[in-house]
Amino acid sequence: MTTPVAWPTLDVLTRDPHPALASIRSTAPLAWVDSLGGWLVVGHAAAVRVMRDAGTFTVDDPRFSTSRVVGPSMLSTDGAEHDRHRQPFVSPFTPRSTRAHFVDFVDTEATRLVAAVAPAGEAEIRTAIAGPLAAACMQRALGLKAIDVGQLLTWYTDIVAAVAAVTSGSGVPEGSRLAYAALTDAVRSTIATAGASSFLGEVAATAGTLTSTELLSDIAVLLFGGIETTEGMITNLVLHLLREGFDPAALLHENDLLDAAIEESLRLEPAAAVVDRYATRDSEIAGVRIRRGELVVVSLAGANRDPAVFEHPDRFDPGRPNLRKQLAFAQGPHVCLGAHLARLETRTAARALLALPGVRLDPARTVEPSGLVFRKSAAVWVRWNRTVP
Ligand code: HEM
Repeated sequence: MTTPVAWPTLDVLTRDPHPALASIRSTAPLAWVDSLGGWLVVGHAAAVRVMRDAGTFTVDDPRFSTSRVVGPSMLSTDGAEHDRHRQPFVSPFTPRSTRAHFVDFVDTEATRLVAAVAPAGEAEIRTAIAGPLAAACMQRALGLKAIDVGQLLTWYTDIVAAVAAVTSGSGVPEGSRLAYAALTDAVRSTIATAGASSFLGEVAATAGTLTSTELLSDIAVLLFGGIETTEGMITNLVLHLLREGFDPAALLHENDLLDAAIEESLRLEPAAAVVDRYATRDSEIAGVRIRRGELVVVSLAGANRDPAVFEHPDRFDPGRPNLRKQLAFAQGPHVCLGAHLARLETRTAARALLALPGVRLDPARTVEPSGLVFRKSAAVWVRWNRTVP
């Protein structure tokens, strides 16, 4: 087969990639995309295959930017080394443990954030609710009670800036190095005093052969994984629900409908749109030759709209029978550890918002989701009827 080549620019892939992804998919499940310098996998079956076969398509490559900032972690290793990094975090993130540690906290926090904006009759959801809730949950998970959420977000922003700088070919900025050092100091002293029943205490108790530096790298990855993506997941859901005109009362009374809408929102606009892999050997996907060392970018956004799996893929339809086939949390050995917590945060935030009387979208001030890797709406403005005290 001749090599399928596609020309979407980074700008197209950042703003609205869906038509370009559909056009690639109409000829092949993957294509070489010059602007990415690698293969872009857009078919569902091919995406699943790449993510499940870590022996052929690995994350363990010196080009991987996160590991150059925080060191090797579960996100940047495969095989036995990956198991060693990931294992201590598996039990604290099971549905049961997530419920035990987080249900009350998330409910209290979401209720508090919504109550704080309720008198105004309007709010921008990403900055007022989604971001602060996601950051508060990671602060809680890491047990950093002495550090306020604002400080945590500042460190986080500095570390994200370092990953962006490394991705674009520069070195790690001094400010980011200091932020990572301050975060790791805070986590180190928290681990030293954490009770065994705390979230971080549970992790530290099962750390096995992980050194404290390795553990800190994994914790930094949790911070990355837990804030930006969940902020996007909540923001995108609110946009989808209110734009599609769902009845808030129905969503509040039918838990299954809200849960289905959450999966459908993840399918239509996954907050992490792509994951990167590197070919460890020559191989073939759907008759297309991949060479050792080549970058293989899996488009979760593309796979999630594959018409071979999802009929009328551009429609928002929570009634789909196969919603759970959506790939927003990836698959295979790197499948998202925080998926249960992210769903809990999103469901709880949505319920708190939907309970506001007359809640509706303000379309004039709301913007469409965008982003090459992390996709979310920068602003979703919502209004409701102010209650007279
Ligand atoms: C509480 C919130 C979250 C936490 C704590 C979290 C944590 C993590 C961690 C630690 C990993 C790495 C697992 C590994 O490499 O073995 C991961 C992977 C991943 N997460 Fe999450 N995550 C959260 C929310 C989300 C959300 C909301 C999304 C998207 C909607 C998401 C999408 C992903 C994806 C796509 C991967 C796979 C990365 C890859 O294969 O390269 N995560 N997550």
